[in-house]
Amino acid sequence: MTQTLKKAAVIGWPIFHSLSPLIHNHWMHEVGIEGAYEAVAVEPENLAAGVQRLVAEGYSGFNVTVPHKEKILPYITKLAPLARQMGAVNTVKVEADGTLTGFNTDGIGLVTHLKTSVPDWPKDKPALILGAGGAARAAALGLLLEDLPFVMISNRTRLKAEKIAEDIGRGRMTVVDWQDRNSAVAAAGLVVNTTTLGMVGQPPLELDLSAAASDTVVYDIVYKPLETPLLAAARARGLRTVDGLGMLVHQGAAAFKIWFGEDVGYDDALKTLLEAAIK
Ligand code: ATR
Repeated sequence: MTQTLKKAAVIGWPIFHSLSPLIHNHWMHEVGIEGAYEAVAVEPENLAAGVQRLVAEGYSGFNVTVPHKEKILPYITKLAPLARQMGAVNTVKVEADGTLTGFNTDGIGLVTHLKTSVPDWPKDKPALILGAGGAARAAALGLLLEDLPFVMISNRTRLKAEKIAEDIGRGRMTVVDWQDRNSAVAAAGLVVNTTTLGMVGQPPLELDLSAAASDTVVYDIVYKPLETPLLAAARARGLRTVDGLGMLVHQGAAAFKIWFGEDVGYDDALKTLLEAAIK
């Protein structure tokens, strides 16, 4: 019996650097789904036509990345709760009737990677999120689903952190001044960098970890390089660290489950492929 080829994609602009095809094609091969996942460059002014084409051509669904994560909203018929709270969609499922359901798996991806990397991460203490862009909002949403006392957020532009706390915090988020971030480290069981600092070509994030408790976990969502200066400093202090590649993998796994109903994960073969690709 011939199986219909399954198709999925990631749309963005620019898109050539995306690691998602490597990840999803690995999983398709692994679970025996015949088909392909491609990176599709969709210019901002061609979003409607780009989406229509994917629906018309029978795609099961697609990921959405910069700069379309918010712009896609008008094309979505049904929005899952986390996507609504994010105000952004990273995963779209094309339903049988051609309508689109929007999800956001970024926060879940972040937390799943944390839980699988450090199962005994200190949940009895607050987390500290640095940054207040889309990734910070996703991190906060994911962490607020956990049983943490509260989530602290600190950003150079304080107003943006306040907006996130107000939108999604429900009294469980506090804003820390950027210049006070070092003192917040002492109280935190988890420190998450969601800023672009530490990325190749960017200055490092300046964060003093000397007051961190010995069980503090330091998580950097930057994955180029895999070991950022922040993670190197944490490791040098004997702190447990989590790198950003797994968040990408786990948000992808959640999308894969939505489209194809299959459970996939971050196996060693995938890790080897990805580490080679980002070198
Ligand atoms: P994303 O949506 O992927 O999270 P973003 O919206 O561009 O990305 O957010 C980048 C984050 O890095 C922001 O929190 C930004 O701080 P501002 O809101 O003050 O701009 C932070 N960031 C970037 N460069 C920074 C720097 N030199 N010092 C401190 N924070 C910086």
